[in-house]
Amino acid sequence: MDLLDRLRKAPSYVSGEALAEEMGVTRAAVYKQIKKLRGQGHVIRGTNRVGYRLEKSKGDRWSTDMFPGPLGRPLHHFSTLGSTQDEAKTRALRGEAAGGLVVADTQSKGRGRLGRAWSSGAGGLWCTLLLRPRLRPAQVGGLVLVAAWAWAELLRERAGLDAAVKWPNDVWVGRKKVAGILAEMSSEMDRVHWVVLGMGLNMNNTLPAALKTQADTLKNLMGSAQPRVEWLSRWLTQFATHLHAYEKSGFSVFRDRCQNQLVFKSQKVSIDSARGRLSGVLKGLDEDGRLLLETETGLLTLEEGVLLLP
Ligand code: BTN
Repeated sequence: MDLLDRLRKAPSYVSGEALAEEMGVTRAAVYKQIKKLRGQGHVIRGTNRVGYRLEKSKGDRWSTDMFPGPLGRPLHHFSTLGSTQDEAKTRALRGEAAGGLVVADTQSKGRGRLGRAWSSGAGGLWCTLLLRPRLRPAQVGGLVLVAAWAWAELLRERAGLDAAVKWPNDVWVGRKKVAGILAEMSSEMDRVHWVVLGMGLNMNNTLPAALKTQADTLKNLMGSAQPRVEWLSRWLTQFATHLHAYEKSGFSVFRDRCQNQLVFKSQKVSIDSARGRLSGVLKGLDEDGRLLLETETGLLTLEEGVLLLP
């Protein structure tokens, strides 16, 4: 249990004893964590004896000490940008090191896959990670799936949400999209130079009315405003490990885990792809993250396409 999450959910004071018991630690250890949270800027009233209450959670603090791992530095935070993708690309071309992160509170020209517009109002998490992975271009699609799966995993673990991956790049909760990943890259035939991995998460932003039937926000799903920096910090830590494993062993080590959380698995679906509209049963993913579709004429392996509701 995360102490900050627990205090966020508590309607009033929670005793140090209760916290210690729930967390399976001593009261002194609880106090130590309380001191640390206070040091980070959270206003927490109380003592071990009377209990603790979160008075004011600190706002987002975009600082590299929130990202202790190899990803998230250098950090470039803007209040507004056209698109974090463009800013990250400029930096990639200038030779900025892998791990750099561009974040914007709002985007005026946020974009999604296939040139679609991406609504990027205040409160959402809009960012792009610059990577220089040791991969072949054909492996980048699988990396996008791993990134989406890592978000789904985090949402399941930390918030108990019914999160899953919608091939090839979305995170869904229930029947609605909460996040999308967009990878753009520069490569040779057999070697990637850089990838800008853009992530858009609907957190505390207000969605345009037209999107509300198909998309949702974490704030709405969880009933309270969510700390963007903390979520991102957790994801970056986990993704750094996944990236390492992916560079070493490819998608195969993630295949089962991603398949187990795949929206529409074993269901009849339609897919708009370069081959036209295809229908069949979604069987899963192959060892490179391509979609396996069982059609009347046999099993197809698709590396691109738009998956439509069955
Ligand atoms: C999709 O689902 O089509 C992908 C959406 C990706 C949106 C993010 S927001 C941050 C980054 N900047 C952009 O312009 N797009 C990505």
